[in-house]
Amino acid sequence: MALVFPRLFSSIRVGPLTLSNRLCHAATLTNFAEHNLPSQRQVEYYEARARGGVGLIVSEAIVVHPQSVPTSVVIAGYDRRSLDGLRRIADAVHRQGVPMVAQLWHAGRQQLWTPISAPWAPSPIPDPLSGTIPHEMSRQEIDEVVESFAATAQKMQEAGFDGVELHGAHGYLITQFLSPWSNRRRDEYGGSSENRVRFLERVIERVRSTCGWDFVVGVKLNGHEFVEGGIDLAEAQRIATRLAATRAIDYIAVSQGNFSKSLEAHVPDMHFPRAPFRHLARGVKEAVGDLPVCAMARIVSPREAEVVLQSGDADLVGMSRALISDPDLPRKAKTGEGEIRPCIMCNVCWGAVSLGKPMLCVYNPSVGREGEIDPDAPPPASLTKRVVVVGGGLSGLEVSRVAALRGHRVVLFEKTGALGGQANLAARLPGRAEFGEMTRYLVSEVQKLPIELRLGVEATADAVLELSPDAVVLATGSLPPAPLLPGARGGQVVTTWDVIEGRGEVGRRVALIDAEGEHESCGVAELLVAQGKRVWFVTRFDMVGPHLNYVSRIGVTGRLLRNGVVCVTGAEVKRVSGRTLILANLYSGQEHRLREIETVVLAGPKGAATGLLEGLRDKVPEVHAIGDCYAPRDATAAVHEGHRVGRLL
Ligand SMILES: Cc1cc2nc3c(=O)[nH]c(=O)nc-3n(C[C@H](O)[C@H](O)[C@H](O)COP(=O)(O)O)c2cc1C
Repeated sequence: MALVFPRLFSSIRVGPLTLSNRLCHAATLTNFAEHNLPSQRQVEYYEARARGGVGLIVSEAIVVHPQSVPTSVVIAGYDRRSLDGLRRIADAVHRQGVPMVAQLWHAGRQQLWTPISAPWAPSPIPDPLSGTIPHEMSRQEIDEVVESFAATAQKMQEAGFDGVELHGAHGYLITQFLSPWSNRRRDEYGGSSENRVRFLERVIERVRSTCGWDFVVGVKLNGHEFVEGGIDLAEAQRIATRLAATRAIDYIAVSQGNFSKSLEAHVPDMHFPRAPFRHLARGVKEAVGDLPVCAMARIVSPREAEVVLQSGDADLVGMSRALISDPDLPRKAKTGEGEIRPCIMCNVCWGAVSLGKPMLCVYNPSVGREGEIDPDAPPPASLTKRVVVVGGGLSGLEVSRVAALRGHRVVLFEKTGALGGQANLAARLPGRAEFGEMTRYLVSEVQKLPIELRLGVEATADAVLELSPDAVVLATGSLPPAPLLPGARGGQVVTTWDVIEGRGEVGRRVALIDAEGEHESCGVAELLVAQGKRVWFVTRFDMVGPHLNYVSRIGVTGRLLRNGVVCVTGAEVKRVSGRTLILANLYSGQEHRLREIETVVLAGPKGAATGLLEGLRDKVPEVHAIGDCYAPRDATAAVHEGHRVGRLL
């Protein structure tokens, strides 16, 4: 049978290794380490990705020096006590026949989580994100860090890794040396391009002389920093050319962005076009000739990976998020068996990690629990039950899927004609159509199972009881707030759902009042702008979208401000008087008036739609309320709760 993705599944030589295919697991910090030591969760996480069939695994960033330990959930590779755990990771991946390299990392000045000591950097220029002023490294400290890369690489070799990737991207220490934006040194490490590359060249030289040639040495570089005065493609090409000329590295992986507002570029979310930075990989490829180059960033599907490879932009494709949502993506792509759980690029994974929390996925509940949960093969139920699920939103779909996979007989009621619930509304917001991919996947999985779908049927308590269920799961979602404000006239106040569904009159000058801090309010503000409205975004929080992951917040804040939306933060709504909306500052109490407001849009708070609960309680052996109907929350909570209850039934 001819392969659908011939280039992707062709072998390639990378230094001493021959990879069976060109799909690499890009470095992905999991925050699963414990007390800075590798954990069993990490062993299982990586083994699952190897079992899924990638050609190469690059580990998460592993710390090379004690001056760079942002949290206790990253692996301290410089510490010998990590060796046991690292060996278990490498062994597990090798058991699946996949090679693995360890990404070596010094964060430099970018340690904004919990800087417990003054971070080191080439120059004492504050990290733009946190304002942290780093300590300017002395020559002796530079030597020390160079040695720490080599010593840590040696430990990785001892632990059985096939090589290392030096993290020279995303604005961390190596980038800080490479970039004129962060390196203002006047010694041999600063000034000219040649001098700025010296630190990295020394690291490469010492890693090579320590670990030898039967060991992969790769470098992850920024193809662009997207900051004024930083590395651009031309500079990246100069750097790559110099590195290639050393003949001491085996590949270059190309990424972009740093810890400034350009951080958005390093994990481009669903608002970006697909593969938006492949031209950077191509530019680096043009500079380095035969040296393998790995492209990444929002290359989501095997088809897109194949296109990138066939066009010659790169020799390898790296995926991080797409393998978080589905570790089996390579195997499914190769065999055509099983549907890929497509990453929707929502950045829930990155958001958690950037806050120092363990990684999770919006709808792959097994992330970090691979040893415990196979999302597609939950353990069969010991007793087959008749399960009635009410509500076909995300939580209802997931609970139905899991319950049916376990052998329960499931009836799913959905009062509208379409499955998906609120997710269908979310997917109608500007730039968020990809959100609908999650629903599409869940619906398609549900449709493959013997689940009785009752679409367009409102489930009354009587209709449910008539089925004599052993268990009822209420997944009836939430209700929008009542469109009321003190002093407002009828029709002057509507909700976000009214706006999305085109209900009610919305005037030209609109105040949106955000009580949730989530994507919906931001997205509806963008929708109103797209409809030509003048928008005031009023929120009691200190920023727009506080619950969004930081990179998506950079994106949405920029889009709102560029479109003339006025953001009023820390504001409580007092009342409406005619066309004036009266606000008060949350901290000072000082009143503030927005005049000539024709419509007020309420974005939450929503209420749990618990209507059926009373009529069923004590009449069915088991009743569960899940998702928003338990308490209104986000999509991650809805799916994970659906999954958990599906396993409990
Ligand atoms: C949760 C998460 C953690 C990441 N951790 C790292 C890391 O440790 N080292 C690194 O170089 N890049 C890291 N990245 C960036 C990825 O390697 C990759 O460059 C980026 O996600 C774009 O690829 P993708 O679109 O396939 O996700 C991380 C990305 C995510 C989503």
